[in-house]
Amino acid sequence: MIELGLADGSLIDELMELTAQSIGHLEIQEHFNIIKEIGRGKYGKVLLVTHRFRGTPMALKVMPKASTKLQGFLREYCISLHLSCHPCIVGLFGIAFQSKEHYCFAQELVIGRDLFAVIQPKVGIPESSVKRCVLQISSALEFIHSHGLVHRDVKPENILLLDSQCCQVKLADFGLAQKRGTIIRFVAGTLPYMAPELCAVALLDHQKEVTAAPLSIEPSLDTWAFGVVIFCILTGYFPWERCMGSDSFYQEFADWCTMEKEAYAEEDIPPLWRRFTPEALEMFGKLLALDSIKRSTVGAVKAYMEIDWLKKENGNQLQRTGQGKIHSTGRGADPLCRASVHTGEVSAAERLFRWTCEITKSLETSKVTVCLCHSPLNKKKTKKEISVGIKNVVLLHNQD
Ligand SMILES: Nc1ncnc2c1ncn2[C@@H]1O[C@H](COP(=O)(O)OP(=O)(O)OP(=O)(O)O)[C@@H](O)[C@H]1O
Ligand SMILES: [Mg+2]
Repeated sequence: MIELGLADGSLIDELMELTAQSIGHLEIQEHFNIIKEIGRGKYGKVLLVTHRFRGTPMALKVMPKASTKLQGFLREYCISLHLSCHPCIVGLFGIAFQSKEHYCFAQELVIGRDLFAVIQPKVGIPESSVKRCVLQISSALEFIHSHGLVHRDVKPENILLLDSQCCQVKLADFGLAQKRGTIIRFVAGTLPYMAPELCAVALLDHQKEVTAAPLSIEPSLDTWAFGVVIFCILTGYFPWERCMGSDSFYQEFADWCTMEKEAYAEEDIPPLWRRFTPEALEMFGKLLALDSIKRSTVGAVKAYMEIDWLKKENGNQLQRTGQGKIHSTGRGADPLCRASVHTGEVSAAERLFRWTCEITKSLETSKVTVCLCHSPLNKKKTKKEISVGIKNVVLLHNQD
């Protein structure tokens, strides 16, 4: 593999400058046949296209100019291009352009789905698939970190699969990637994958400024997110909604982490975590160390590949019986859903309840049928009745 640039990410600035000078104008349809949309995220959409003359299929990432800064687009494109030679990182064709309304770049088409799409909510995916995926993503992240860069958006939606058993996976979406050591003062809202030190600089609803000191972007942010992703794909649940004291699931975990490890008994382990073997708990303890300085590197997972992560006897039973405060709509850990930024201090269940009440008040009918957007897993919709004290509301709540 050809080594490009220094390990401090300095080549990126040069690449961005050169690309800014050479980026051409063209309209998508003049050069590509658009087959269909294959994905959509917060910042743009991804189109399956074929090149009009050569017929090559590609995944074209298209970002509206109205909501995308040119510098942001250049950074995403140049970082992706810089890293795309790794076998577990999505490949690039070196094609970037702007149309009247969009900035675009062409990526290798990954024909499978993303990792999120194969996770069975409340169940996860088989441990053997998890381990294959974990090994490949740790290698991709080590590569990124060795180039002085941090991905900053490690989540199942950004892990693309060539097959549903995770034999070959690729990390994508460098839209938030930055050079190590970049200082940020705040982020808007929180995600379940965000480390405690990142949540500390999150601006929530109605907040105008954060009180925490500015944060240096470090690879330890990816290590934390990677730990959360492993939890999610092994269980089909988020471990918490956000790393803040107001989230009881996070607080329970944080309290347990600060206990003397020699002294704790089985019942001291937070219920959600009791399904894991002691070795897996040790691994999570390293990836999810509350203090970012003490957090391991992503490569720490390699030492745990030959060991069972889920307890054999009751790992799955735990999920079926709902032991450990796991509920789909009550006060409990959220079953996995495509993570959207949480900006308030309100739990998912509370949001759902308030939202339902608002609809019921605004519509003077005896029955309202609503399709809840909180969990966009539309495989199987289940009707859910929630009494809101005014009238009956029939909720089509995606429970799978
Ligand atoms: N190269 C690709 N091949 C196939 N599908 C892709 C490819 N790149 C992205 N996708 C699909 O498109 C979705 C959105 O792409 P991407 O994550 O790059 O967009 P985004 O707007 O930056 O998303 P986010 O909300 O995570 O920031 C992905 O979750 C994935 O399902
Ligand atoms: Mg994405």
